[in-house]
Amino acid sequence: MAVRGNFSSKLGFIAAAAGSAVGLGNIWGFPYEAGAGGGAIFVLVYLFFCFALCFPVMLTELAIGRKSGRNAVGAFNALGHRKWNFIGKLGVLSGVLILSFYNVIAGWAFGYTFEMAAGNFAITESFRAYTTDIFAVGGYGLMFMICTAFIVSKGVSAGIEKAAKILMPLLIVMMLSLIIYALFLPNAMAGIKFFLLPDFTKLNLSVVFNAMGQAFFSLSLGMGTFITYGSYINKKDNLVTSAALITLTDVGIAIIAGLMIFPLIGFVSGGTLSGVGRGPELIFVTLPYIFGEIGGSAGSIVGMAFFSLLCFAALTSTVSLLEVPVAYVVDEFKMSRKKAAWLMSGIVYLIGIPSLLGNGYSAYFSEFITYVNVTTSTDFLNFIVNVANDSFLPLGGSLMVFFAAHIWKKQNLDAEIAIGFEGYQDSFIRKYLQFVIPFLLPATLFIIFAMIVLVTFFGF
Ligand code: PHE
Repeated sequence: MAVRGNFSSKLGFIAAAAGSAVGLGNIWGFPYEAGAGGGAIFVLVYLFFCFALCFPVMLTELAIGRKSGRNAVGAFNALGHRKWNFIGKLGVLSGVLILSFYNVIAGWAFGYTFEMAAGNFAITESFRAYTTDIFAVGGYGLMFMICTAFIVSKGVSAGIEKAAKILMPLLIVMMLSLIIYALFLPNAMAGIKFFLLPDFTKLNLSVVFNAMGQAFFSLSLGMGTFITYGSYINKKDNLVTSAALITLTDVGIAIIAGLMIFPLIGFVSGGTLSGVGRGPELIFVTLPYIFGEIGGSAGSIVGMAFFSLLCFAALTSTVSLLEVPVAYVVDEFKMSRKKAAWLMSGIVYLIGIPSLLGNGYSAYFSEFITYVNVTTSTDFLNFIVNVANDSFLPLGGSLMVFFAAHIWKKQNLDAEIAIGFEGYQDSFIRKYLQFVIPFLLPATLFIIFAMIVLVTFFGF
């Protein structure tokens, strides 16, 4: 077997894992999903999923990964259940699909760094034209994919660990400063209220579905990212505190992103919160507008800093997305890491082309819903979000937990989680896990998954 990498320290692992979790999902996805899902009520449901249900899934993934020391597919073989490795294969497929559209958006963000540097704040009015210019945005996406492949080809500890340790804190400082700025703008409070005061009349099934998909996506769960990363950590680490730290960081940054963007929406809309694009274009339209308000070179610098840090946040995520299929072919097909990284990223880039074209360039991919019977999506990118984020991830997560509890057996899971955690035997968290993991969690997730599929794809 090829030599496997390892994280150089516990902090390195946490930084890389939190780097995987924190990304476009928090800063681009969460605010727009919250905006579309009724604001604070979406946030509440999302928090419930993150802590009550996704956190045990993360622990399960880490335990499977550390115990087996293998990739998302090989882990099932190593634990002696080859028949169940289809769960890992579903994960590899999810990773490939997610990265294919994720890279397109990362490419936009990358291009925006240069637009901001050039002081092109007017781009707010021509975002559609920007995404339609596929040679430019496709080129930025290609560069982004090359960076991702390069880092993954170098292995876990050398590249990504180091970058994550420096850049993540910088991003947080940057966002906190923007929050302070935003809070003093007129009508900021209208946005904050929408984001923090739940309106229970807005609670419906689609809010629950989207919040669940968003929780899995944002925490990088359900596709074996944490099986793979878990395979690089050592036996001394406490999985529970690690998972808790990763979850808190991820949720914290999503909330910070909301606190940053909703006051701005309040301001830009004059307090009505309407007439402001709330879809995927949100951070690409509302934020540059504000940078334009700051104006001049200060606006350029803030804009440039924001989008470059966003790119780094995205990069630590794309690296983990690529790592899942790469670790799979490296372990199972004995391919060299370098070859695997370049080959996989090439394939993923090609699969991403319909997502690239579906934002204005190609009518077919931009109005994909008129060709496939999907009621809630509009373009190809959104279609992949529905399939991969909202369906495959929760499905994968529920299957993994089911596998751990009933096939691998819950005593084994319990024993692996106990390693590195003194006092685990009598802890509250152990009782909670024993309560949710056997049936509640897999059943809940599965039922909700089934409903998502019925509603999204069959229009019930
Ligand atoms: N969690 C990442 C984000 O929020 C995306 C991601 C999903 C990364 C799944 C890895 C696996 O941007």
